[in-house]
Amino acid sequence: MPVSVKSPFKRRSFLHRILFSAASSAVGKPNPEIKSTAAAPSSSSAANFRKVIADIADGWHSDIAVDVINTSVDLAGKQMTSHFDEFPHALFASRHNSYAPWLKDKRLDAYFSAIHPPYLRGVRKDPNKNGTIVDIYRCWTIWQVVTQLAKVEGDLIEVGAFRGGTSALIAHALSITKQSNHLFICDTFRGVVKAGEYDDMYRGGEHSETTIQAVTNIVASFLPTESFSIEAGVFPEETGQFVSGRRFKFAHLDVDVYQGTKDSANFLWSHFSPGGVMVFDDYGLYGTEGVTRAVEEFAAEHTDAMMIYNFNGQAMAFKGLNTS
Ligand SMILES: C[S@@+](CC[C@H](N)C(=O)[O-])C[C@H]1O[C@@H](n2cnc3c(N)ncnc32)[C@H](O)[C@@H]1O
Repeated sequence: MPVSVKSPFKRRSFLHRILFSAASSAVGKPNPEIKSTAAAPSSSSAANFRKVIADIADGWHSDIAVDVINTSVDLAGKQMTSHFDEFPHALFASRHNSYAPWLKDKRLDAYFSAIHPPYLRGVRKDPNKNGTIVDIYRCWTIWQVVTQLAKVEGDLIEVGAFRGGTSALIAHALSITKQSNHLFICDTFRGVVKAGEYDDMYRGGEHSETTIQAVTNIVASFLPTESFSIEAGVFPEETGQFVSGRRFKFAHLDVDVYQGTKDSANFLWSHFSPGGVMVFDDYGLYGTEGVTRAVEEFAAEHTDAMMIYNFNGQAMAFKGLNTS
């Protein structure tokens, strides 16, 4: 299918330049254009707005949307120009949905003290920091899913570990809920691979600043070393052999690009137990439309997968319900 790519850099208003220049430079993303009729703020509100954006500059677009609403600059719901016509984007966040249950779950304290808090920021910039580049909202999804899978048969796998932040979260969830299943942790340890025409933010080689030892150390602080293994290489071509013959109840796919997501999901789904859950990171995020495309193709091809989009930048496939 032909891909239409639009320039995000045209026709940006003053407000939009403020909004996205700080945030985009911090996260290394292209600046999106927003189709908005909102008026430019006064100079004092513009200064305040700059401060808000600077404060959250290490965050992602969902954080930005929340702060935009809080500063009364109402961009929520406004459509953004997408790079791919098939995947429209709009700023959204609900004023009424602010419950943050991770703040009261004391079981997470040990995790947050091992992984750089708060909101796990700064990891991209400082290779010496333990951590994850997955935000707290998505971490909370992973935590909820894994802690509730105790009664389902099967092992667990993460494809795309980087410095092991979400691997450690899965390990901690297993340990807390006394699940003795094996955790496979897969990464190339040379960064993102298989970036292609559907991936506008990734070119290949990103997130290579990690080591097997660093991931081993952080995961081993939550789980005995015999309960997990680290498989280095491209999944599934180079490391799929290590998981063949296994049944799975959980997978966290976080490889950032179209082809890697598609190959990993297709390889693993036939090994999934009924009741198992596959979590796709980056679904719906601005700049990772390759993942969104791969997930939507996966959903169309697998009628035994019930799909949920949680609006945090994740999709989930629940195995076992015939949805056709
Ligand atoms: C966004 S990072 C993962 C972030 C991580 N989950 C965290 O908690 O911060 C993506 C990772 O996927 C890895 N990766 C990409 N494609 C892969 C593939 N086909 N097989 C194995 N690892 C892959 C990259 O090396 C990179 O470390």
